Amino acid sequence: MKIGILGAGRIGTILGRRWAEQGHAVILGVRDPASEQAQALLDSVGHGVRTGTLEQAAGASEIVVLAVPWSSAHDALRSAGTLAGKILIDCTNPIADDLRGLALGHVTSAGEQVAAWAEGARVVKAFNTAGSKTMADPLFGGRRAALFLCGNDAAAKRVVTALGQELGFDPCDTGPLYHARYLEPMAMLWVDMAYIQGRGSDFALAVLQR
Ligand SMILES: NC(=O)c1ccc[n+]([C@@H]2O[C@H](COP(=O)([O-])OP(=O)(O)OC[C@H]3O[C@@H](n4cnc5c(N)ncnc54)[C@H](OP(=O)(O)O)[C@@H]3O)[C@@H](O)[C@H]2O)c1
Repeated sequence: MKIGILGAGRIGTILGRRWAEQGHAVILGVRDPASEQAQALLDSVGHGVRTGTLEQAAGASEIVVLAVPWSSAHDALRSAGTLAGKILIDCTNPIADDLRGLALGHVTSAGEQVAAWAEGARVVKAFNTAGSKTMADPLFGGRRAALFLCGNDAAAKRVVTALGQELGFDPCDTGPLYHARYLEPMAMLWVDMAYIQGRGSDFALAVLQR
C-alpha cells in the first residue's frame, strides 16, 4: 500500500521503516525535504523510504499517518491538503508538555478533533497506546502487545488491523471513534508509568481473553 506519514520523529520513522520492510511504499512528510536533515533521515531509515513535503506525502498515499506532537496536529493537517476519502491513522496524544495531563478529554478527544479538521477522511485512532520501543518490536516473550484502535469506518479499521498485524501487534478494535476519549487517557497512564513513576518505556499493554 502507499503510506504517507506526517511527521518524521520517533513514531513516524519507526512505523515508516517497519512498513517499508513489509513492502509498502512509504513517504515521510517533512517540513523541508531538501534539507541536510531530511537527507540524513533518508540515510538512517533506508528500505526505500522517501521524503517529501506533507502535501506530497499525503497526496501520493491512500493511507496517511498523523505522527506529530498534538500542538502541531492542526498545522500538519492543513499542510497535507485534502484527505477526503483517505484512511487517516491518528497516533497523537494530546499530552501536556510536562507530561502531567491531557489537554482535552472526557467530552471530546484528539481523534474526534482530528476527524473534524480532516474533513472526509476515514479516521482511525491507533498506535497511540504503545511506546516507540513496542512499535519497533511488539513481541514480549511469546506475547504480543495490544494495538488498541477505534473508528467509525469498518473497512478502514480492517486495513489498520492488517497493518498492525504485519508489525506483530495484537489488534483490538474497541469501537467507534469517540472511544478515543478512553484510548487517549490509557496512553496518558502509560506515559505517567513510564516517565513520571520511572518504570521505563520498554513495557506494553496487552489483552487477555478467555
Ligand atoms: N514517542 C512515543 O512513544 C509515542 C507513542 C505513541 C504516540 N505518540 C504520539 O505520536 C506523536 C509523535 O510523537 P513522536 O514521539 O514521534 O514525536 P517526536 O519524536 O517529537 O517527532 C515529532 C515530529 O513531528 C515533526 N513536526 C512537528 N510539527 C510539524 C509540522 N507542523 N509539520 C511537519 N512536521 C512537524 C517534527 O519535525 P521537526 O523536527 O521539524 O520539528 C518531528 O519530526 C505525538 O502526538 C505523540 O503523542 C508518541
